[in-house]
Amino acid sequence: MKRLLDLAARPLLFRLDPERAHGLSIAALKSGVRLSDPPPVSRKLSLTLAGLDFPNPLGVAAGYDKNAEVPDALLKLGFGFAECGTITPRPQAGNPKPRIFRLAEDEAVINRLGFNNEGHQSALARLLARAPQGGVVGVNIGANRDSADRMADYEEGVRLFAGVASYLTINISSPNTAGLRALQDRESLAELLERVMRARNAQAAGLDTGTPVFLKIAPDLSDEAMADISAEVLDKRVDGLIVSNTTLARAGLKSAAAHETGGLSGAPLFERSTIVLARMRKLIGPWLPIIGVGGVRSAETALEKMRAGADLVQLYTGMIYQGPGLAARILRGLDTYAEREGLSSIAEIRDSRVEEWAARRLD
Ligand SMILES: Cc1cc2nc3c(=O)[nH]c(=O)nc-3n(C[C@H](O)[C@H](O)[C@H](O)COP(=O)(O)O)c2cc1C
Repeated sequence: MKRLLDLAARPLLFRLDPERAHGLSIAALKSGVRLSDPPPVSRKLSLTLAGLDFPNPLGVAAGYDKNAEVPDALLKLGFGFAECGTITPRPQAGNPKPRIFRLAEDEAVINRLGFNNEGHQSALARLLARAPQGGVVGVNIGANRDSADRMADYEEGVRLFAGVASYLTINISSPNTAGLRALQDRESLAELLERVMRARNAQAAGLDTGTPVFLKIAPDLSDEAMADISAEVLDKRVDGLIVSNTTLARAGLKSAAAHETGGLSGAPLFERSTIVLARMRKLIGPWLPIIGVGGVRSAETALEKMRAGADLVQLYTGMIYQGPGLAARILRGLDTYAEREGLSSIAEIRDSRVEEWAARRLD
């Protein structure tokens, strides 16, 4: 029945402008209406990583709940964790509309939102209000477009959200804020990570433990850039990686909107983001947590991210095409797989295809 609702809602939502459809979906989640059958609770899917207890390895990627309005409703859909943001210190409007485009024939989206969000204070108030509910809720932080010192924006985000976030994500990989991705260059990255980790450690003095800091990277990186990032992440003792954000690549698309400027997400990002994930896993070694993102839209694609080196996975675009029941369906698929293969934990499949994925051509 719920699956039917998912399928029936799609043509209606797809008649609307994508940004209005997104607003409606947030409103539906806020209303508390039950949008999905309850997902399985399975010990085979739970894991502890970076000191956090995840009920399952599937999370909502940043960008869906930019202003921390519905993390608990997302957890109720079955997601094991929800990442809010990207949040910048001051509110900002983002780029002119239209700025989200559906590429239906490709099961993809192009967005050039440009960090539209209500700013630190409003997200902080919401997160403080929901904190007693628990659950793993990450906060993805960014820099204002017109900031004189972008690194200071990240430091401020760390200081402000360390006490309320389960983990913090340093997002320097959005393609929609001019110059932001340059923070991935070795020298800038070294300075940024030094400053961010110092801010985190200063906050940790007042907390039981330091809030884990993850770095979210682009899928459009040379092997040299990947090696630089891996070296700095290890040197500065960053707690984990998120691979990856949207891509600027446009190979093999069928849809008319393929020429739009912005970051591409969804099915066509799967291959590229999984190759970069596997290469980062090889560079960074087995111990550092990695969240695999990009084109996850089924239990099989989630499993493949893990085989390529991911401890956890996230999705966004898959839910645009398949509705709010997708999380529960993927979790049922993962649970069935673990049962059938006789695994005691789904984490046992990690890295089983890392070599194969890392060796694939990136083009
Ligand atoms: C409309 C839209 C907005 C996004 N906004 C953000 C954002 O604010 N911060 C961020 O780190 N990633 C953002 N992303 C990227 C996603 O978090 C994710 O990395 C990417 O979409 C790949 O996953 P997917 O193929 O499952 O969508 C956004 C993606 C989309 C489609």
